[in-house]
Amino acid sequence: MPKRIITTDETEEDLRLEPKLRPQMLDQYIGQEKAKKSLKIYIEAAKKRGESLDHVLFYGPPGLGKTTLAGIIANEMGVNLKVTSGPAIEKPGEIAAVLNSLSEGDVLFVDEIHRLNRQVEEVLYPAMEDFAIDIMIGKGAAARSIRLDLPPFTLIGATTRAGLLTAPLRDRFGVIHHLEYYTPEELTTIVTRSANVLGVAIDGKGAGEIARRSRGTPRLANRLLKRCRDIAQVMFDGEITEEVAVKALDFLDVDRMGLDHLDRLILTTMIDKFAGGPVGLSNLAAAIGEDGGTLEDVYEPYLIKNGFLMRTPSGRVVTNLAYTHLGLAAPTSGEE
Ligand SMILES: Nc1ncnc2c1ncn2[C@@H]1O[C@H](COP(=O)(O)OP(=O)(O)O)[C@@H](O)[C@H]1O
Ligand SMILES: [Mg+2]
Repeated sequence: MPKRIITTDETEEDLRLEPKLRPQMLDQYIGQEKAKKSLKIYIEAAKKRGESLDHVLFYGPPGLGKTTLAGIIANEMGVNLKVTSGPAIEKPGEIAAVLNSLSEGDVLFVDEIHRLNRQVEEVLYPAMEDFAIDIMIGKGAAARSIRLDLPPFTLIGATTRAGLLTAPLRDRFGVIHHLEYYTPEELTTIVTRSANVLGVAIDGKGAGEIARRSRGTPRLANRLLKRCRDIAQVMFDGEITEEVAVKALDFLDVDRMGLDHLDRLILTTMIDKFAGGPVGLSNLAAAIGEDGGTLEDVYEPYLIKNGFLMRTPSGRVVTNLAYTHLGLAAPTSGEE
């Protein structure tokens, strides 16, 4: 399978683009009003008391702004940001060294925190609770543990899979926020802001068109903006108008509802080969030449969330919306 342009995982392209586009302060961060409002209060209160901010956990799908928020919190608190991730830390000694390098009030951002192993996690418990780490000295019968004090700091964890976090770790976060998909209006604002930062000419309708096709995800909106700019410069006069956006996004294989060829292949396969369903996961997976787990975890959620496909006890079923979207007549059995 070729790489999908609509993937919300971080790509090479994003790594070059995103540092420029990340909002630095809370009032540049668009949407997520609930999280923003509460963070504003916590940040102000912590600053007033001259204390470090409580530990914060962000969870939600990729590309919605978890890493961005961690950076913003450090900026708003006026402290250093240290970044690491679950898979990057293998040994207790490694996390101990990271913790030991923090200065008072610093933010330690641990991305993919659900992937920390148990031994590493256990170092975090006293660190988060008492700002201390316990270190084992000596071997065998002479081994003893000494406690090392840390400066107060803020741990910010991010995860796409909050369900995989152990209870003792989750319980040590004072603030927990679920990040939501963005509305097309919010994404329009984000696209417009990003275009400004990148010096791209775009009008409101052009931004709206990119926003609607971005699957609720700022990372994708920014990536599509950049690709549209390239196309606008090569094939048009450089400005992203509605017409240019429509043509560019069609060319990029992102349709009006943010579906790509693979999404549409799933729907048309269900319609052509299985009469719209119900069809079992493994049958459908075999028919499109994909593995069942990937189909279920990566491809289906967007289709289900947006009402193209349903999971029923007897299997997957396409909806009338899928037929209309593909320009096909829906069967008239009235099963919806
Ligand atoms: N609320 C927002 N306002 C503006 N831009 C955002 C917002 N959230 C995310 N972005 C943009 O999307 C990109 C991806 O966000 P990121 O924080 O890396 O997502 P995550 O860590 O959740 O995968 C960032 O580079 C940033 O430019
Ligand atoms: Mg991230």
